[in-house]
Amino acid sequence: MQLDPKLTNVETSIFSVMSALANKHNAINLSQGFPNFKSDQKLIDSVSKAMNSGYNQYAPMPGNFELRQAISKKIELLYNTHYHPENEITITAGATQAIFTIISTFIKPEDEVIIFKPAYDCYEPTIDLNGGKTIAIALETPNYQIDWDKVAQRINKKTKLIIINTPHNPSGTVMSKADMLKLQELTNGTNIIVLSDEVYEHIIFDKVQHQSVCLFSELKKRSFITASFGKTFHNTGWKVGSCCAPKDLMDAFRTVHQFNVFSVHHPTQKALADYLKEPQHYLDLSHFYQEKRDTFLNLIKDSRFKFTPSKGTYFQVLDYSEITSESDIDFAKRLTIEKGIASIPLSVFNDDRRDDKVLRFCFAKTDETLEAAAKILNTI
Ligand SMILES: Cc1ncc(COP(=O)(O)O)c(C=O)c1O
Repeated sequence: MQLDPKLTNVETSIFSVMSALANKHNAINLSQGFPNFKSDQKLIDSVSKAMNSGYNQYAPMPGNFELRQAISKKIELLYNTHYHPENEITITAGATQAIFTIISTFIKPEDEVIIFKPAYDCYEPTIDLNGGKTIAIALETPNYQIDWDKVAQRINKKTKLIIINTPHNPSGTVMSKADMLKLQELTNGTNIIVLSDEVYEHIIFDKVQHQSVCLFSELKKRSFITASFGKTFHNTGWKVGSCCAPKDLMDAFRTVHQFNVFSVHHPTQKALADYLKEPQHYLDLSHFYQEKRDTFLNLIKDSRFKFTPSKGTYFQVLDYSEITSESDIDFAKRLTIEKGIASIPLSVFNDDRRDDKVLRFCFAKTDETLEAAAKILNTI
């Protein structure tokens, strides 16, 4: 039988490759982005309680209503803007499913989608799968800024969607108010939809305000926001996230969502609804991760790696150009095999595999793990 799958040229993700290598060589794994500490016991107990209280059948297609109400309140508290829980918020199987569904809802063959590289790895294959064309614009190094003149040059009648991500994985940078105003200006008067991947909205440092698209009234009208409880409450394996957008966009989203996943794990949604009643649970997160970032950077300040402190996310990129001229993939593999520490080479997120001699380390780890990692990095 001759198989003719739609997605070709898909390699095993670098996350799987590096994690497998880390396991094989018993290395400290700072490659994949997940915490190695437990989610709050209160939240775990709350999921069990929801199961024992009968939340075990299909949730409504758009999600548990209490959870949608809680998200609506959270957005009002943080950004002073309203999304109606009935028709402007949908609970998804992680942000990944929301991203997949948004792209699948709108992208037709020949439509163009602008993304910024380095980029999170699920955008491009989903665009491909739907026959769309990815227009990749490289972020300017060393600060990973968007060159808006380049964006203006690439926008044309075929541009259907622009995907942004702030705070940004993998670089740990954030978009400024000026960036958002520029995006608003460039999309005004067009039919371009914006997908704003804001899964790290609660992990932003040095008292900087997260610039959500919903803070900009014209931008909000054309935008989807994707969010992830996995990132916010240290349980990436639960794969529960959410998506919000104005009603016309969300109505379209749900036409695909209902056949893509229909609904998401119900008891977890009920537990999250209860847990969100206490804003401190997400308001404390930036402080918590800023301490981790500072601990990690302080421990490696005398190493030969160069860095600008991450401004958001739980990732820190380290420049090793003064250590070796090896490719980032070779160096990341060698560090794992010979030195016992795993990271992610940034070139895999870049167009044409551009290699800036930079590795990404995840600091969502216990202090003991960070200390053990730093000990190794200081010897390199
Ligand atoms: C930028 C970005 N978007 C989306 C996701 C996916 O989130 P989820 O695990 O909720 O599907 C991730 C996970 O690493 C991410 O880093």
